[in-house]
Amino acid sequence: MKAFVKRSDAPDDIALQETEIPAISEDELLVRVKAVGVGIHDSYFLPQDIQYPYAIGIEAAGIVEKAGSAVTEYQPGDRIAFVSMMQPKGGTWAEYAAVRKDSLIIPIPGPMSFTEAAAIPVAGNTVLRALTALPLEAGDSVFIAGASGAIGTFAIQIAKARGWNVAGSASPKNHAYMKSLGADKTVDYRDPAWADQIRDWMPDGVDAAIAIQPGTGTDSMHIVKDGGTVITISGDRFKPERSIHVAFVPHKADVRSQLKNLFAFISVGKTQLVIEEVYPFDEGLKALRKTQTRHARGKLVLSLD
Ligand SMILES: NC(=O)c1ccc[n+]([C@@H]2O[C@H](COP(=O)([O-])OP(=O)(O)OC[C@H]3O[C@@H](n4cnc5c(N)ncnc54)[C@H](OP(=O)(O)O)[C@@H]3O)[C@@H](O)[C@H]2O)c1
Repeated sequence: MKAFVKRSDAPDDIALQETEIPAISEDELLVRVKAVGVGIHDSYFLPQDIQYPYAIGIEAAGIVEKAGSAVTEYQPGDRIAFVSMMQPKGGTWAEYAAVRKDSLIIPIPGPMSFTEAAAIPVAGNTVLRALTALPLEAGDSVFIAGASGAIGTFAIQIAKARGWNVAGSASPKNHAYMKSLGADKTVDYRDPAWADQIRDWMPDGVDAAIAIQPGTGTDSMHIVKDGGTVITISGDRFKPERSIHVAFVPHKADVRSQLKNLFAFISVGKTQLVIEEVYPFDEGLKALRKTQTRHARGKLVLSLD
């Protein structure tokens, strides 16, 4: 099969080449990949005991080709989206992927395309798990730092659906976009006055901040009220002040049913899915370079059709 593989320890040593189709165990599925969700983590979420060449990537959508003997939940022909992360047999930037049956697997709703389905699992799962750490009620306020990308696009909409007041930061070219998703207030993270603008909007500070991009956690803390919460999606570590609780994405939170609902809402147009660009599979490195700029709007996807 064709796959984008990491060939050595050198960070950028990734190339499209022929490699073996993974052999599956009894508790795995072999999935014919139809579309791949692209993210900045694709080049560095790798297993510790990596064997080169290693197919990169952690999410995709496709058709079950074969099911191991211990798999009863899925059968050949099923359309699924999934997250399969740091597995020894390789990742999703490939024509076929081996997927453990206990991975995060979501059946694709009838009308949804593979391209759409591949764009949802990682960003959707991350937002939903992050939100479990925010003790907010309808009427509370949240600031989302870096809100026009893959995670922010869902975060704004889900936060609004919960009745929260939402502010987001991004470049001015994305302010109308964030408003179209429901943001009540938008600021430019490059504007030195952005924190004052948030303070004008919520004079006591916001109840919580979701810091998506690296480095945004400390800055976001300054506009959170005493005793509020900052959740750091990038995993930045910093010292809390004024009894603010700094939280990380709770990796054990099980949000499968909420994620299934998100797929359903998207399939009926109740939640917007935004894909900036669908790249043909062989242009994967172009998509990787784009995600590394941290300036994509919504999600990037590779199509194998
Ligand atoms: N914890 C987890 O489980 C988990 C899972 C997945 C991803 N992540 C993390 O989430 C991050 C990726 O999120 P994503 O996929 O949403 O990224 P993305 O799609 O690349 O996000 C792009 C957004 O970030 C904004 N941005 C770029 N630089 C910024 C800065 N210096 N300050 C504030 N905003 C900035 C962009 O604004 P403009 O384009 O308008 O300038 C745009 O709104 C990575 O740090 C990744 O490690 C964590």
